[in-house]
Amino acid sequence: MTASSKSLYAVAARPGPALAGPGGRPGRPAGSAEGIVSSLSSRAATPPLLAVRDVRIRHAPTGRELVRGVSFDLAPGRVVGIVGESGSGKTLTCRAALGILPRHLELSGGSIVLAGEDVTTFDEDRWTRERGSTLAAVFQDPASYLNPSLPVGSQVAEVLRVKTGLRRREARSRTLELFASVHLRDPDVVYGQYPFELSGGMLQRVLIAAAVSAGPRILVADEATTALDVTVQAEILDLLADLREGSGLSLVVVSHDLAVVAQLCDEVLVMRHGEVVEQGQTDRVLHRPEHEYTRLLLAEHDQFGLDRVLEGRAS
Ligand SMILES: Nc1ncnc2c1ncn2[C@@H]1O[C@H](COP(=O)(O)OP(=O)(O)O)[C@@H](O)[C@H]1O
Ligand SMILES: [Mg+2]
Repeated sequence: MTASSKSLYAVAARPGPALAGPGGRPGRPAGSAEGIVSSLSSRAATPPLLAVRDVRIRHAPTGRELVRGVSFDLAPGRVVGIVGESGSGKTLTCRAALGILPRHLELSGGSIVLAGEDVTTFDEDRWTRERGSTLAAVFQDPASYLNPSLPVGSQVAEVLRVKTGLRRREARSRTLELFASVHLRDPDVVYGQYPFELSGGMLQRVLIAAAVSAGPRILVADEATTALDVTVQAEILDLLADLREGSGLSLVVVSHDLAVVAQLCDEVLVMRHGEVVEQGQTDRVLHRPEHEYTRLLLAEHDQFGLDRVLEGRAS
């Protein structure tokens, strides 16, 4: 399996040669970098779960830098949004934090500290343990992460078996609970259905269930609602907000759509051409954008209901 292959495991578990055993959640010793990170953090009292510091990503064969200097802190229970046009470096930033950079791309500068540990020290086995357990992700196009010829329930149950060591029967009942928690109606029915029998919104709920199945602390949602129609998109955003409220999950929400991140995020990064052009508290960025490009994004949303979001957030 290559780093960029698509499978349900890529989202939630990615079993490798050395899987975490039952309850194999790794310890999280405070690394030496933690002191530096928290002194930089605006919330020094709560060390960030994820500290991305001046990250640069390079295409090794050409030396071209695709991402240049992205920094943010993700504290427990907080939501950071990354917004910007297609090709601005949002996905690569996330992939770096998930340890799934595509072939030929490398972290060429800066640091990523996950729960106190510098991820550049992680080997593939370590990443395999962390993905699903500490951080997980959902992407656009959920169907492509599922095997079309297996019922979705058994695919999620398999992730649970691999990731948490549950036995078959327990994995099934836990999957049904997860399906209920992501507001899939009739979990029993959905369990036995094949991907083609489910709508895009239902498939994304299945993928979210798989992603949170092993209790990660961080969920990266990269364009997770982009392919969905507006009503379903709103439902999925509500679900993400529920997960944050209910289990204190921290989120990284990526979208080219400012209205999407506006609904959920405490802080927003606006990216363009591999750089962060503006970054700050969501309310400040939305109400008093400082960069021309942010103003442009806001203007594009005039017709799409961002005004309502802005009013909702106005204090
Ligand atoms: N595997 C790859 N090889 C070479 N260039 C890539 C690869 N993946 C992405 N890029 C380039 O990196 C830039 C940022 O891509 P990406 O992070 O996917 O953008 P976004 O998610 O904001 O649309 C783009 O110019 C894209 O073409
Ligand atoms: Mg992308």
